[in-house]
Amino acid sequence: MTTKSQFEPGHKVPVHHQEKPGWQHMMLDPKPVSDQLPTDEGGYQPYKPAEKLKGKRAIITGGDSGIGRAIAILYAMEGASSLIVYLPTEEKDAQETKKKVEEYGCKCYLFPIDLRKKENCKAIVDKAVQCLGGVDILVNNAAFQNMLPDISNLTEEQWEKTFDTNIHPFFYLAKYVMPHFKRGSTIINCSSVNPFIGRGDLLDYTSTKGAIVAFTRALSNQQISKGIRVNCVCPGPIWTPLIPSTMTTEALEQFSGVPMGRPGQPSEVATCFVFLASADSSFISGQCLHPNGGVIVGS
Ligand SMILES: NC(=O)c1ccc[n+]([C@@H]2O[C@H](COP(=O)([O-])OP(=O)(O)OC[C@H]3O[C@@H](n4cnc5c(N)ncnc54)[C@H](O)[C@@H]3O)[C@@H](O)[C@H]2O)c1
Repeated sequence: MTTKSQFEPGHKVPVHHQEKPGWQHMMLDPKPVSDQLPTDEGGYQPYKPAEKLKGKRAIITGGDSGIGRAIAILYAMEGASSLIVYLPTEEKDAQETKKKVEEYGCKCYLFPIDLRKKENCKAIVDKAVQCLGGVDILVNNAAFQNMLPDISNLTEEQWEKTFDTNIHPFFYLAKYVMPHFKRGSTIINCSSVNPFIGRGDLLDYTSTKGAIVAFTRALSNQQISKGIRVNCVCPGPIWTPLIPSTMTTEALEQFSGVPMGRPGQPSEVATCFVFLASADSSFISGQCLHPNGGVIVGS
């Protein structure tokens, strides 16, 4: 099956704005693509699974929409069940993810809860173990961002909220899941291209994303002798609810500004999460993958 491509070079995303945290079902067309990949002819083809994650069990934060939804769906196509975490206001999007995962014959447990509290992170691991019978893969993917032009506009409250959302739960979830891990278990963290290019209008967000890269490298060095790999994915501009809910009109108009001349789809990032969770990446740990439309980054 091939459908027409929605994002060709030069394609601009539809400029519209949502309240935070953003909802996929309320995005204007073209909608984000979760389970198809671009063809050379300018269309889309279904993702081709190969039982790479058969029987695996994953926690996926921010799994209701965008990149997290695409990860949950590709994981299901590869045979992995998941527990997805999201904010209570995102229930409708989460139900859609669950429906898609279950169409591929895997389980998808829903857990609407605020990651900013460490006791909630503990509850997430406990619930995943209870529902899935264990955890093999932790995908730290949830994030908050809010664009501001200057440090003088960036409040102390926003600085703390961004760190409380974007990096502290990565530590708590990794810490609480570790006793359940065995050789071959893996953590995959979602960072961004922004710490590599130093995006000024997302100072707090960019700082947390740099912390995620450092956290990935240090945790990998700490855990690799136990056979637990820790890696990181650093997307460029991807068409998800985060974008219309947080970006200014000007930023939306420039959203295709990468060498490929188009934004990416969530499916084009989720493939990195499949690779890093599977045995295909058995000799890779402490590293970053860069699905960013061709932006050359330092390391
Ligand atoms: N979309 C992009 O252009 C882009 C670029 C680089 C990196 N990323 C990263 O990709 C990841 C996924 O984002 P997305 O673009 O798919 O957007 P998204 O809005 O679909 O997903 C973000 C999710 O984070 C979750 N979340 C936020 N605060 C939370 C909280 N306090 N408690 C529980 N859940 C919370 C929400 O469920 C939300 O759906 C993020 O880490 C983001 O920083 C996105």
